[in-house]
This record gives sequence, C-alpha cells and structure tokens, in this order.
Amino acid sequence: MLEQLESELARGRAAFEAATTLEELEAAQVSVLGRKSPFGQLQRGLGSLDEAQRRTVGARVNAVRAALTDTLEARRAAFRDAADSALLEADRIDLSLPGRRPRGGSLHPLTLVEREVIEVFVRLGFRVVQGPEIEDDWHNFQALNIPPDHPARTMKDTIYPAIPGRTDLVLRTETSAAQIRTMQSQPPPVHIVSPGRVYRRETSDATHLPVFHQVECLVVDEGITFAHLKGTLEIVAKALFGQSRRIRLGPAYFPFVEPGAEVGVSCFKCDGAGCRVCGNGWIELLGSGMVHPQVLENCGYDSERYTGFAFGMGVERVALLKYAIPDMRMLVENDARFLSQFEGVA
Ligand code: FA5
Repeated sequence: MLEQLESELARGRAAFEAATTLEELEAAQVSVLGRKSPFGQLQRGLGSLDEAQRRTVGARVNAVRAALTDTLEARRAAFRDAADSALLEADRIDLSLPGRRPRGGSLHPLTLVEREVIEVFVRLGFRVVQGPEIEDDWHNFQALNIPPDHPARTMKDTIYPAIPGRTDLVLRTETSAAQIRTMQSQPPPVHIVSPGRVYRRETSDATHLPVFHQVECLVVDEGITFAHLKGTLEIVAKALFGQSRRIRLGPAYFPFVEPGAEVGVSCFKCDGAGCRVCGNGWIELLGSGMVHPQVLENCGYDSERYTGFAFGMGVERVALLKYAIPDMRMLVENDARFLSQFEGVA
C-alpha cells in the first residue's frame, strides 16, 4: 500500500503539472483525489488494516493528500494569476497617448441672441424682470385691454393648459403681461425689459414657431412720447444689426397701445427686394406703441400725468436676421451640425 501511495503521489503531481487549463486541472483533481480514484480506494482500504499498520499507512495517506492538495492549489493559483495578468494586459492603458478631450457643449444660438438683446438694454439702463409662463386671464388679456371677444383669445391662437379647476389660466401668448405685473408692483418711472418664452397655436414655417421667445420693453414716465419710442428702436436695431440694415415702421393695431406700430427690418437674404424667406423684403421684428391710457389706469397709474411706450421683440427673428438663418425651424431641430457653428460665438 505504501508503494501504491508513492506511485499515486508521483502520478497525481504529474497530472496536475500536465494540466494546461483550469478545466483540465479540475478533471485531474477528480481522477487523482476523487472518491473513485486509486487514492480514494487506498484511503478506504485503511479500514481493513490492523491498528499498527493503520497508524503508519494512515499517516502516509494524510501526508500524500496534503502534498497533492498543495500542488493542486499552487497550480490553481498559477492559472488564476495568469488569467488576471491576461486581463490586465488587455486593459492596459497607454499613458503616453494624447488624451481624448470630451466635446464641450456651447450656448444655444437663441440663448446667445437673448443675452445680446438684453445686454443692449442693460447698457441703456433698463432693469430685467421675469414673468410666469402660465398666466392668468387678467394679466394676459383683460389688463392689456383685450376684451373677451378679441380674436387673440380664441382657441386658434391661445393654448389653454388643462389644470382642473383653473379655467382662467393660459400659456402666455406674449411677454406683455410682464408690463402689467411690473406696473402693479411699483410706482413710475419704469424702465424694464422682460425676456421669456411664449406660446401660440400656430403652424411652424420658415418664420413662425408655436413656442418662441420675446423680449418686452416698457418705459413709463412723465413726458414720454413717440419720439422716445422711435429713438430707442433705432438704437436697439443698430446695436443688434449694424448700420447697413434698414428698419421701417408701419401702423399696427394692438389693443394695449395707441398708436401702435409694427417694426420690420430689411431682409438679410434679399435686402428688401422680396424672396422666399421674407416674402415682401422685410422681416417683421416687433410690435410696439404708446401704452394705452386704459392699461395705465388698470395698473393704478395716473394716465393724465404719465405716458409710456412698449414693444415686444421676437428673439427667433433677431437670430434669423443676425446669423442669416434661412429657416426658423433649424433653431429647434437640435442638429449638432447646425448648433456647433455657434461654438465660441460668445
Ligand atoms: C405681440 O406679441 C405684442 N405683444 C407686441 C407688442 C408689445 C406690441 C408691446 C405693442 C407693445 P406680435 O404678435 O406681433 O405682437 O409678436 C411680436 C413679435 O414676436 C413679432 O414681431 C415677431 O418677431 C415675433 N413673433 C410673433 N409670432 C411669432 C411666431 N409664431 N414665431 C416666432 N416669432 C414670432
């Protein structure tokens, strides 16, 4: 038996050494140390020996099992190390390679333009105020002299949010409600601009979106005239578009001003001749006028003493004019090839 044990030790070591994969090693373990292996049978044979023999052979059985188990574990560890090294090798990072810089984002052209417009006003001494995008009927319509039967209130133009129990709320159709909120919150004089998003039930085309941005301007003080409005418009238009672009004022009706004027800028594409972008050579930029006395009174201002002017400018239209963008929808399509052209502009 002792001889058999020695030969099983030699055979087992050789089998463990010969294994070239972890699977082969597991198979060798079963054939060398398993219950049905020659070693297993020797172990079971101990029972048939007398006590003295059992002691001697038993000690050797234990020593051989320990030796074989050591070899087995050493081989297993070697396979594990090799697998780890292979993994590390595959994951190796070449620190000498130049880094891959993550692509930075940039400001959206509308943000750039809105900031630029606001900056022009801030330089003129205006204060910036913000109003809510969900407005109530009084601020968005009634206080602005828009009676219940005015076309601006029909479902065609206005988007009504479905808020249970609040049928008086609208998504603001223009930034003019900010005029009302400002006048209610302070006495004259007022010099404010109010930027923000507005909503209308409209179909998108090259110069219209259903969600767009406006910047509202309001001045109220003693002795404010139409000349102040025109002067301010000229300063703002020149600051934004340069000296070469022409502006024109035409009569327009807005219930909250009297008189009202629409201001257009000569088209960037055809310079006033008329083309696919503009139609008649001019791109309508803003609505304006002298604040209606009733609006001043609605806000508690004395319309005998104070007068004012206001205008509301479309930010998307400014962007089209400034950057010669042929279609307003490009501003909202999120095409990175378009947007990346504005990297580094500000
Ligand atoms: C108004 O919204 C008035 N509140 C402007 C105003 C303010 C008049 C203060 C008098 C006093 P209007 O609907 O014309 O007016 O819109 C003003 C500007 O917003 C337009 O000149 C245009 O530049 C822009 N705009 C209007 N509709 C759209 C649209 N669907 N998409 C993009 N821009 C638009």
